[in-house]
Amino acid sequence: MGGHCLSDLRALGRLGAVRILVIGTGAREHAITRALSLDTEAHELHAAPGNPGIGQLATLHAVDQLDPEAVAGLALAIGAELVVVGPEAPLAAGVSDAVRQVGIPVFGPAGAAARLESSKAFAKEVMAAAGVPTAMAHVCTSLDEVAAALDAFGAPFVVKDDGLAAGKGVVVTEDRDAALEHAAACLEKPEGRLVVEEYLDGPEVSLFCIADGADVVPLVPAQDFKRVGDGDAGPNTGGMGAYSPLDWAPEGLVEEVLERIARPTVAEMARRGTPFSGVLYVGLALTSRGTRVVEFNARFGDPETQVVLARLRSPLAALLLASATGTLAELPPLRWAEEAAVTVVVASEGYPGSVRSGDPITGIEDAESIEGVHVLHAGTALVPRPAGDDDAAPGEGVLVSAGGRVLSVVGIGADLAAARETVYAGVEQVELAGSHHRSDIALAALEGRVAVPGV
Ligand code: AMP
Ligand code: GLY
Repeated sequence: MGGHCLSDLRALGRLGAVRILVIGTGAREHAITRALSLDTEAHELHAAPGNPGIGQLATLHAVDQLDPEAVAGLALAIGAELVVVGPEAPLAAGVSDAVRQVGIPVFGPAGAAARLESSKAFAKEVMAAAGVPTAMAHVCTSLDEVAAALDAFGAPFVVKDDGLAAGKGVVVTEDRDAALEHAAACLEKPEGRLVVEEYLDGPEVSLFCIADGADVVPLVPAQDFKRVGDGDAGPNTGGMGAYSPLDWAPEGLVEEVLERIARPTVAEMARRGTPFSGVLYVGLALTSRGTRVVEFNARFGDPETQVVLARLRSPLAALLLASATGTLAELPPLRWAEEAAVTVVVASEGYPGSVRSGDPITGIEDAESIEGVHVLHAGTALVPRPAGDDDAAPGEGVLVSAGGRVLSVVGIGADLAAARETVYAGVEQVELAGSHHRSDIALAALEGRVAVPGV
């Protein structure tokens, strides 16, 4: 973009190619980078620290994503015109503040606004002030308060650690002792605080609302599968799969969430002097008593992003830049593919417990040779090929597992049935010793077994 500033370019009626730095290491960031690479403008893409999949699309930089000064320094050094912060931890660490401070547009909220995710008690306070429907909740700092709150709400019990806990801070249980035990563990942490909540029945929906401090643009809803096993068995994970669209969702859901939840929340944050820009991830339960917020996050969800962005037909860079520069109101309406997308996460042996790493991954090319399949990397690494492997090109490494969630395989099809078939055909091609995945992603929706209770 040479010496033009963004507003000059907007005046010219075009955005042009943008130099973009994506922060993060997961399949969500791979999905973001991939979508940016598919814009008709040929953006110059960089990522830090990235992963081997992202490295096929962007220049990687070995910079600590939790070090705000280092990220801002990198953004300056490469002349980034937009920085996109993927995960919650860099946001909470103040990475977006540091980048904004050096004058570079950043997609992602300031640390003070990211508290909507990093403190559940804060989120509840904002929801109460904004009149946003959510579960009734008590913030507790002692076990006596916890016991009283549990008894007031009754079973099933919901106990949430106040701080960031990578999806593992929430316990939902029929067992009062187990609820108390989790509460005691939360309280043991320094400044330990927790939230005891009313149980919300009904299916969950994730809706990403892009904000620029004042305006809000919703994306399309998706559904995520948080438990490790088929039929929602086993412990919570970061997410094992997702699909979009949700044909079973009530008509008007997006409009309702926009008017009753996202806009009032963004307005309340602005009123407090901590305007929210980036993604307001609205986690919903569609209960017998109406739509309720289960949680807010301050970033794109993983793995929902993999299916939502697979359906986006408008240029992603323009959307993220409009959020970063406070110009969402000028953005043309988003366009979406009618097709369905399903993603299935391939996880390492042991996930979500302690996992085995370093196993070779093969079959990605075979998977991607299937029409409608693409494979996104999460916990992967390239290691040097063993000596004597003459087939390899010089410098080429071996792809191995390096974390819990290893790959997100995405399938696109004319409808949910086709997308599901496609994604599982792709998953079948992937070989990773000891790996596991859910085999029922999007199945209940396909079979008409998802419904709002009492409707
Ligand atoms: P959170 O970290 O707040 O998203 O909670 C993680 C998961 O716990 C959610 O996706 C829900 O499946 C479940 N959960 C959280 N809060 C409630 C609630 N009040 N009632 C029922 N389930 C809940
Ligand atoms: N998919 C759940 C999350 O990103 O928190």
